[in-house]
Amino acid sequence: MASARGEFSSRFGFVMAAAGSAVGLGNIWGFPTQAASNGGAAFLLVYLVLAFTLAYPALMAELIIGRHAHANAVSALRLISPGALLRKLAAATGIIGFIVASLILSFYAIVAGWMIAFCLASLATLLGMAELSSWLTSFGLGRNLLFMLLFMGLTISIISAGVRAGIERWSERLMPAMLISLLVLVGYVLTLDGAMEGLRVYLLPDFERALSPKLIIAALGAAFFSLSLGVGTMLIYGSYISDRENLPVLGGMVTVVDISIAVLAGFLVLPAMYVALHNGVEIYNASGALISEDTLIFTVLPELFRTMGLTGIVVSIVFFFLMSIAALTSSISMLEVPVAYTIEEHGVSRHRAVWLLGAAIATVSAVILLNFGTLFGFVISLTTRYSQPLLGFMLCVFAGWVMHRHTLLEELRKGNPDVEQGWFWKIWPWYVRLVCPVIILAIFAQSLLG
Ligand code: PHE
Repeated sequence: MASARGEFSSRFGFVMAAAGSAVGLGNIWGFPTQAASNGGAAFLLVYLVLAFTLAYPALMAELIIGRHAHANAVSALRLISPGALLRKLAAATGIIGFIVASLILSFYAIVAGWMIAFCLASLATLLGMAELSSWLTSFGLGRNLLFMLLFMGLTISIISAGVRAGIERWSERLMPAMLISLLVLVGYVLTLDGAMEGLRVYLLPDFERALSPKLIIAALGAAFFSLSLGVGTMLIYGSYISDRENLPVLGGMVTVVDISIAVLAGFLVLPAMYVALHNGVEIYNASGALISEDTLIFTVLPELFRTMGLTGIVVSIVFFFLMSIAALTSSISMLEVPVAYTIEEHGVSRHRAVWLLGAAIATVSAVILLNFGTLFGFVISLTTRYSQPLLGFMLCVFAGWVMHRHTLLEELRKGNPDVEQGWFWKIWPWYVRLVCPVIILAIFAQSLLG
């Protein structure tokens, strides 16, 4: 059954594809921007703690449930649920995940469209087409709609090719390229005037701020968003992993890769912000808040590239190209959630499911663009800040309370016969049962009261 659904062909392929899903706009657009508006180092600290103590265990819950069932989120959760009531809860959780994944994609496609537009804008500059370039970097409705549609079209065409051919091939090649280009840019930005101030903000925490409920909930959302949790993406990717693989190790690798890239992007964006400030670019308003969180990196990074002269134009093309690809390896993992469900539960062909769902999501994106001021920020915080951690909570409950301990052990044993002796089996089952749900709820309670 598993092979008929498609499976990742190698461990490297899976890690790259799951890391491809995890690494995306969340790392380079979301995390550094949130860090910049939430006190830098305090945010970094809380993000790191939450990523390893809550997001990694929740990722494991998804991977284990997914591989156990080799099916989409709704069927997978139903499979482990005894009794009619739990099965209903399972279906509801899976379907809400499907809706949240689609909503995430609807705003994601807009931002990813900006990445493509900025890549082409630098290309236009290189070719001497200044007018085209300035249209491409304007945030007008026409440009936004066009590039959102272009990005959705790309996502749709890759996803209709299926798991192996589509997802794995792209991720394997482009992830390493992105890592290298980030490293080079970080190395460069740190040599510029003003960068050290950014580094200081990024690395010296103000501990009092780290305890603010607003910061903690933002960091929790950022960690869940960055690791693609709560919506069923990782559950589906888990369902495509072969039974031979050692899940805790794979999950650990994905977490480390994803978090490292976010942290690395912070080393680029925060210093770049202060370099831009140093060069007289306005980033903060009179009350000291960021002028625009959504477009921060589209102001500071082009400013950084400008300091490099002609080389900067080429670097800008490469950087925004890689960002567009990183966004694409994430967006395909979002679209795969409703697609896998529709194919497997309703017997629709892959091609049809992809086009229908893709068109519906693009319509939602268009509605967001037409009501940008009210809807854009609202959809982002509804999905990433609230829905993802709450759905992550549900998945921890399914793995910790509903899935039988014996089934969990059997699943983990497949790729590691000695798993019982290791630290993972000693800690994770009770951790995902008690610690994760309680802390996630406590963070929510605190943010509602605070
Ligand atoms: N993790 C992706 C990113 O950081 C976003 C994502 C969220 C992907 C949810 C899939 C599901 O860009």
